[in-house]
Amino acid sequence: MPTETALLDRPDATSALRTHRLIDPLAVVPIARLPRVGHPHAPGLEIAGAGATVPLTGGGRIEYANLDHGASAPALREVSDTVERLLQTYASVHRGAGWHSQISTSLYEGARGPIRSFVGGRADDAVVFTQHTTDAFGLLAHCLPARTTVVVFETEHHAALLPWERSAARVLRLPAPASPAAAIAAADEALRTRPAGPALLVVTGASNVTGELWPVARLAAVARARGARIALDAAQLAPHRAFSIDELGVDYVAISGHKLYAPFGAGALIGRTDWLQAAPPYRLGGGATATVTDDEVTFKPVPERHEAGSPNVPGAVALATACHLIAGADRDRLACLEAGLTEALQQGLADIPGVTVHRLFAAADAQTIGVVTFTIAGQSSAEVAAALSAEHGIGVRDGAFCAQPLVRRLLGAAGCSSPDGSGHALRASIGLGTTTEHVNRLVAAVSDIASRGPRLRYTTASGRPAPVADDRELPRIAAWQS
Ligand SMILES: Cc1ncc(COP(=O)(O)O)c(C=O)c1O
Repeated sequence: MPTETALLDRPDATSALRTHRLIDPLAVVPIARLPRVGHPHAPGLEIAGAGATVPLTGGGRIEYANLDHGASAPALREVSDTVERLLQTYASVHRGAGWHSQISTSLYEGARGPIRSFVGGRADDAVVFTQHTTDAFGLLAHCLPARTTVVVFETEHHAALLPWERSAARVLRLPAPASPAAAIAAADEALRTRPAGPALLVVTGASNVTGELWPVARLAAVARARGARIALDAAQLAPHRAFSIDELGVDYVAISGHKLYAPFGAGALIGRTDWLQAAPPYRLGGGATATVTDDEVTFKPVPERHEAGSPNVPGAVALATACHLIAGADRDRLACLEAGLTEALQQGLADIPGVTVHRLFAAADAQTIGVVTFTIAGQSSAEVAAALSAEHGIGVRDGAFCAQPLVRRLLGAAGCSSPDGSGHALRASIGLGTTTEHVNRLVAAVSDIASRGPRLRYTTASGRPAPVADDRELPRIAAWQS
């Protein structure tokens, strides 16, 4: 298995652009100065609904600046077109003899290949379809062998932090490390001193709060040296960086379709088969069973073993299509464009008086994907998010981003407290539809709000801030909407 140094030494890592693909925050390179970024970023990666306008409170419309890709990304046009084509022949899978069933079965089973190859999986890695990353880690937790110790940092998304509590023999929750090097040392120590038995280290590839890349290859090497396995949460990493679990030395990886421009309800767990094969089915029912008699039930091998119930064929095909399209794009160029937008976003926000951009690691220690969390002194994050939408046509996230221990720690360390006492922050996240104008608009809007507050007055509606006089109307999309 190559080490991280070996990854850095790869011949294709020589150009300045290519360094962005490396998952190695300890090898930070200067970000190239970039031209204006418009849409689409790459042929074949057009976004469904790109350029759509949204209403502003008080009148007028403006192009939607979607800076919430970290939560869910819009569909790629080709993904949506593929699903539309698939629906023309959609039918039951696996047991149907009809022609349309054969088409659907072939598409569903064929979808595992592009996903395996997108994450650089080994030929014998299982690809199990799940609903999303949360479900993928739920499945892996279910499959842990007896006496397994799970080691996880408190900085993880709740989806990677919590599922082990029910099934692992013990969970060692490590405090937020001060640097990537400290993370490696802490993981090593925890694995070295763990009780005998199997162990699993769980780590994110890129934080959904700070966007920081974690030293996955080094952590994988530590896990291997200590006889443990490692699971990678690639929910945020996968849309932003190319990686190979084989080269990184990772055993399992979880991804979500809705973060990968394929919002059709499918995700996947990819990785070593043995633990998955030894475990009882994740769910019991049709599809997972081989034989059912009065006395005995036998189950199919992985992946069907853990896919009981009629599968989500459009979701699986959409995810595979997105993986195929993104893998086929010039990912170094995409990462380079994103790096320019991210730098403009981080710097633009950090330069505004009263705004704090939150990071766990020193900037020199970790590169970031286009995810930036910030707070504005004296302002409620929820109200700012509402104002960005109502007054500027910008979509961002506010809250603790399902990573409450990390957000608490970051805000505490920075001495930030919100007037509403919520301990919440704002997050702007860049994706394939983000343009320079979107970033500039956000920075200008935050600057304005930081100096004089929102222009409109806000009240609480359904538990969230909303303009007192909101004349925007949601469009009618579904036939059942009145
Ligand atoms: C890093 C990370 N892990 C896991 C998840 C959970 O993903 P999902 O909601 O698709 O299960 C998210 C979602 O925000 C995330 O950002």
